[in-house]
Amino acid sequence: MSVKKMISIMPLLTVGFFGFAQEASAVGKPSVLVAYFSWSSAQKTKGMAEKIAEMTGGELFRIAPAVPYTTSYNEVLEVAQKELSDSARPELAEKLTQEELDQFDIILVGYPVWWYDAPMIIYSFLESLDFSGKTVIPFATSGGSGISDRKLRTAIDAEFKEGLCISGYSGSSRNEERIRSWLTESGLL
Ligand SMILES: Cc1cc2nc3c(=O)[nH]c(=O)nc-3n(C[C@H](O)[C@H](O)[C@H](O)COP(=O)(O)O)c2cc1C
Repeated sequence: MSVKKMISIMPLLTVGFFGFAQEASAVGKPSVLVAYFSWSSAQKTKGMAEKIAEMTGGELFRIAPAVPYTTSYNEVLEVAQKELSDSARPELAEKLTQEELDQFDIILVGYPVWWYDAPMIIYSFLESLDFSGKTVIPFATSGGSGISDRKLRTAIDAEFKEGLCISGYSGSSRNEERIRSWLTESGLL
């Protein structure tokens, strides 16, 4: 092909390539990370996180402390209360790098309500990364309390959306329906 001919078709190729790239990103869904902490043997928050990941096609990340919590209910009640009053930041077993986080646009953060707040390990996770420019959506399971996310929403610089708390989460079809309509309202489905 002559140089002249090549130059004359180059703009077409360029337009074609960028046109495709724009189309791909416009139809592409935002990438979703579902990060959660779950403590009890029933693993209720884990169950809810898995359901959300399944519905959204999101990736799961388990938030865990470097030193595991006791398995005793009575003891963990005390440990959690002390962590709350000390504003403790328990060390994470595994940290996400900023580069890993930056692959996601929307981060759903799940936890069991502990003493009308998120467990302090959730704050360790949130404060270990820069969430600016990202959308964070909390979700929780509880024994009856609401989502208890007031403090959490001011802990980091991010755009927060309305969360969902299911008390007595069991994975029932009713629970599933609540998750589905909340995800739809959040624009994720
Ligand atoms: C340390 C601790 C504190 C808790 N505090 C509350 C609370 O303030 N309000 C509430 O409704 N449930 C509370 N619960 C109950 C849990 O939120 C609930 O059982 C949750 O679904 C457990 O989730 P998991 O299986 O993911 O650990 C507490 C449980 C523990 C262990």
